Amino acid sequence: MSNKWINYWSKKTIWSSSKLWKKNSIILFNYSNKKFFLKNKKILDIGCGSGELIENILKISNNICGVDISNNYVSTCIKKFAQYKDIKIYLFKKNYDELFKLNKKFDIIFCNSVIQYFSNENQVINLIKSVKKVSKRGTKFLISDIIDKNDKKDYIKFFSYSILRGYFFSLIFQGVVLFFNPKYRKLENEYQLLEVDIKRIKKKIDKLCKKVVILNQPITVNVNRKHLLIEF
Ligand SMILES: C[S@@+](CC[C@H](N)C(=O)[O-])C[C@H]1O[C@@H](n2cnc3c(N)ncnc32)[C@H](O)[C@@H]1O
Repeated sequence: MSNKWINYWSKKTIWSSSKLWKKNSIILFNYSNKKFFLKNKKILDIGCGSGELIENILKISNNICGVDISNNYVSTCIKKFAQYKDIKIYLFKKNYDELFKLNKKFDIIFCNSVIQYFSNENQVINLIKSVKKVSKRGTKFLISDIIDKNDKKDYIKFFSYSILRGYFFSLIFQGVVLFFNPKYRKLENEYQLLEVDIKRIKKKIDKLCKKVVILNQPITVNVNRKHLLIEF
């Protein structure tokens, strides 16, 4: 199932450089910087995409590693960050289960808007186990934009945040782009985004981690989604 998504993300997509996605990265960066003080931290971005979050982090730290399964995104990022010798970008085939191959430990690890393209919850657990191997005591791992199967979509909240935060028109524009490019919607119907039971995941990983918190705050543009903040 996930291979279809991997094929989709391996080519140029309607999300790559969209204004909405840029705004999303700014919102996530602002939240994370306040919470984790990213300055001079060693940072890993799992499923880094076109490097939007990395571009924001670059303002205060250039010790960043990005990994993705998409050839297209990895080569985009390699070109984009070629002038920064401390930014490393790596291609992983199929999944992120062998992060230990990076041979490095990180302070803060992100994985934003990625796990909905996994096939099942076990892959999420495998990701967390893999992340543990590149973590040290106190490393924080934020898995953001999780679709919890027990949640209901609140469209009023969705649109009111877009007005409050100033991305209403980008949201509408992206909706129109989505409408005229049915490929993503078609895949979404065929393969469906992974909805997880976030409380069950928390229970399964509690013993692996020092602390696991489920966040309900709107730290991305997908304000109806949840997030897992893990400390090792
Ligand atoms: C919505 S984009 C998010 C990109 C980036 N994290 C951001 O916030 O801008 C989803 C990312 O997940 C990666 N991805 C998609 N399906 C995947 C899968 N099955 N396994 C691993 N990564 C996947 C894609 O290559 C893409 O970079």
